[in-house]
Amino acid sequence: MSIKILIDEDTIRKRIKELAKEITDYYKQYTNTIHAVGVLKGSVHFFSELILNIDLNVKYSFVHVSSYQGSSSTGRIRVKSWIDESIEDEYVLVIEDIVDTGLTLRYILKYLRKYRPKDLKVVTFLEKTVCDHGVDLDFVGFKIGNVFVVGYGLDYNEKYRNLPYVGYIE
Ligand code: IMP
Ligand code: MG
Repeated sequence: MSIKILIDEDTIRKRIKELAKEITDYYKQYTNTIHAVGVLKGSVHFFSELILNIDLNVKYSFVHVSSYQGSSSTGRIRVKSWIDESIEDEYVLVIEDIVDTGLTLRYILKYLRKYRPKDLKVVTFLEKTVCDHGVDLDFVGFKIGNVFVVGYGLDYNEKYRNLPYVGYIE
């Protein structure tokens, strides 16, 4: 299998800087501290690079959920780990790698809302525009079509996560 580049490293880096500025500008009106909740494992690189460019105090939490096997969703969510700190009354920013059917994010948001954060926003690195996923995305890195992508954290059966670019399998 060969991997073709869809979004190269420079384009990723540049867009994440812009996104970090958008996010910083949004929150600065309200607060100087936010609580980032990264969705493992796919968002690791995006989480790290984005937050390094956000000019606010950022608390870190992670949830680990999965619904994919190979290149399709199983339609069922498995929670492997969950946040371990309170988010009550905090400005929470969920950081996701990619939104496809929206099943994963809908599930996470539904449960995070129960802890009564002051504000709950979502940033995703990639958004697939094929499904009407029905999730309100506050900040989006790149919109992509109906392709299965790997790299920059995203995997195909746990492979290709450490490619520094976003590619697709030919
Ligand atoms: P959703 O629940 O259908 O929105 O799918 C979201 C999750 O499925 C993401 O967090 C990824 O882990 C995985 N996923 C969806 N599309 C892709 C893809 O093209 N490549 C790799 N993983 C994907
Ligand atoms: Mg994911």
